[in-house]
Amino acid sequence: MVNQPSAAIMHTAITRLLGIERPLLCPGMSYIATPELVAAVGNAGGLGILATGPLTPDQTRAAIRRIRELTDKPFGVGCTLMMPGAADNARVAQEEQAPVINYSLGKGDWIAEAAHRYGGKVLATVVTEKHAVSAEKCGADALLVTGHEAAAHGGSVTSLVLVPAIRRASSLPIVAAGGFAGGEGLIAALALGADAVAMGTRLAMTRESPVHANTKDMVLQRGVADTLYSKNFDGLWCRMMDTPAARRASRKPLGLMPAAFRASAVARRMGMPVLKVAIGGMLSQPQALRQLALFGAATESIRLAIQDGDHEKGVQLIGQAQGLIDDVPTVAELFARVMDEAQACRSRLAQL
Ligand SMILES: Cc1cc2nc3c(=O)[nH]c(=O)nc-3n(C[C@H](O)[C@H](O)[C@H](O)COP(=O)(O)O)c2cc1C
Repeated sequence: MVNQPSAAIMHTAITRLLGIERPLLCPGMSYIATPELVAAVGNAGGLGILATGPLTPDQTRAAIRRIRELTDKPFGVGCTLMMPGAADNARVAQEEQAPVINYSLGKGDWIAEAAHRYGGKVLATVVTEKHAVSAEKCGADALLVTGHEAAAHGGSVTSLVLVPAIRRASSLPIVAAGGFAGGEGLIAALALGADAVAMGTRLAMTRESPVHANTKDMVLQRGVADTLYSKNFDGLWCRMMDTPAARRASRKPLGLMPAAFRASAVARRMGMPVLKVAIGGMLSQPQALRQLALFGAATESIRLAIQDGDHEKGVQLIGQAQGLIDDVPTVAELFARVMDEAQACRSRLAQL
C-alpha cells in the first residue's frame, strides 16, 4: 500500500494566524453557533465563531466562559455591528480576551485596537473589494469573504469571482465563505487565493448543531436551487430556504408604521425605551428604525425555524450548499472526511 502523507493537518496563513490545525471555520450563525458547536469545531482542529446576535452582554460572557469549559482550543466571537447591542457584546469579548473577534456590517477599527492590546486577532467579514481595503486600513488581521452562494448576507458576487478579486485588492489572509461544503470546495478556495473556508450551511447540518430535527430533514431534501435571495426579509440582501413562509416574509418591503410597531416590540424585548425608539426613531431616523424592526422581526422568525422546527411562521437561513448535503455527521467525522476529500482532490489534480 502506498503511504499517503497525512491529511489530518494542513497549514496555511490562516491556521498559523489563528493557531489551529485545519483551515476550516464555523461562521457565526444565530442560535446555531452556540458554545457546544464552537467547542466541537475547535476540538476538531478548526475555529468556531460564537454567534452573539441574539445574546445580551451577560449571556455573551457566560457563553464565552462555557466555551472555555468545553475546550482549551482557540475560538472566535462574532459581532454583527449593525444589530442593537452588538458593540456591547464586542466589548465583553475584549474583556474576556477572546482569541479571535469577527465583526461584520460596521467599522471595526476600535475592535482591532483593543484586541491587539491583549494579543487577540480580528477577522473582518467583507463582501466587496472596497470593504476589504477599508478593513485592512482599520487593522483587521484577516478577511472573511462571503460570496453570493452563502446563507444570510452573502454579497452580490459569487465566491468564484469575489475571492480572487479580493485576493488582488488585499494582502491579508482570506477565509472564503459561501458555497463550501467539502474537500473539493476547500481545494477550490485555496486555488482561488483563499487560505481557509468557513462552512455555515454544512456545519449547521452536524450532530452538535442545535438545529431542530424537522429542519435538518428539510435541508436534506432540498437542492442547490431551492433558496430565495431577497432584501425584504431583514432589510439586507439575504439568502433563505425557499418555503411559503419565506416567500410571504420577503414579498414586499416593510412600511414605516408597521416598522414603528415592530421596533417597539423589539425595544421592549431588549429593555430599550419604547417611545424613544418607536416615535423618536420614526421622526429622526426612519431608515435606522426600519432596519432595527426588520432585524428584530427576522431574528424571531429565524429562531422559530431553528429551535422549534416551525416553518409556518419561521424562516430558515440557508445557503445553496444545502443541495450538496446528504447526511448529519459529527463535526469530527465531517472534518476528517473533508480533509480526506481534499487530499484525494490534490492527488487527482497532480495527475493532470
Ligand atoms: C442556518 C444559518 C444561520 C445563519 N445565521 C446568521 C446570522 O445570524 N448572522 C449572520 O450574519 N450570518 C448568519 N449566517 C451566515 C454565516 O455566517 C455564513 O456567512 C454563511 O453560512 C456562509 O455560507 P454557507 O452557508 O454557504 O457556508 C447563517 C448561516 C446559516 C447556514
